[in-house]
Amino acid sequence: MTKFKLIFIILSVFSVFSCTNTEKKSIPNKKVVPKLEMEQGGQIFRAKCMNCHKRNGEGLDPTYPPLAKSDFLKNNIEDAVRMVKFGSSQKIKVNGVTYQSYMPESGLSDEDLRLVFNYILNSWGNEYGNLDLETIKAIKKKR
Ligand code: HEC
Repeated sequence: MTKFKLIFIILSVFSVFSCTNTEKKSIPNKKVVPKLEMEQGGQIFRAKCMNCHKRNGEGLDPTYPPLAKSDFLKNNIEDAVRMVKFGSSQKIKVNGVTYQSYMPESGLSDEDLRLVFNYILNSWGNEYGNLDLETIKAIKKKR
């Protein structure tokens, strides 16, 4: 009987663990971004983002928030993708500084968004994980 109890306990502990795992799995994924994809992401960044966020992602106060070491990016990856995908003019706080300006929608495909995000999530000292295409696709405009 006690043996059964033990097995039961072990099983329930395992199921609790597997549940929390699937919940955490969403973002970010911890795979290493291949070098070629980092280069492609960098090209998109320089063409589409650098004007505002600057070459090293340092941004430009008081209008353009930094991406390098951005706590906002680190903690709100999904929202950040939504902002770049659909444009944004909300009030946000990045590293203690409040910004409220306008970022136009990027017009990038989901695949290009994936590449550029994996680039900014892993550049300038950022180690914020990475996104797969499914995750990017699933991010919809807020109503
Ligand atoms: C025309 C200037 C402009 C361009 C181009 C631009 N952004 Fe932004 N970006 C902004 C502004 C302004 C904000 C703050 C928006 C707000 O207040 O809602 C912002 C916010 C962000 C944020 C969230 C805040 C942060 O600093 O972590 C991310 C991430 C981001 N941009 C990434 C990108 C990426 C990636 C691209 C290129 C695909 C891009 N941006 C292109 C101006 C721009």
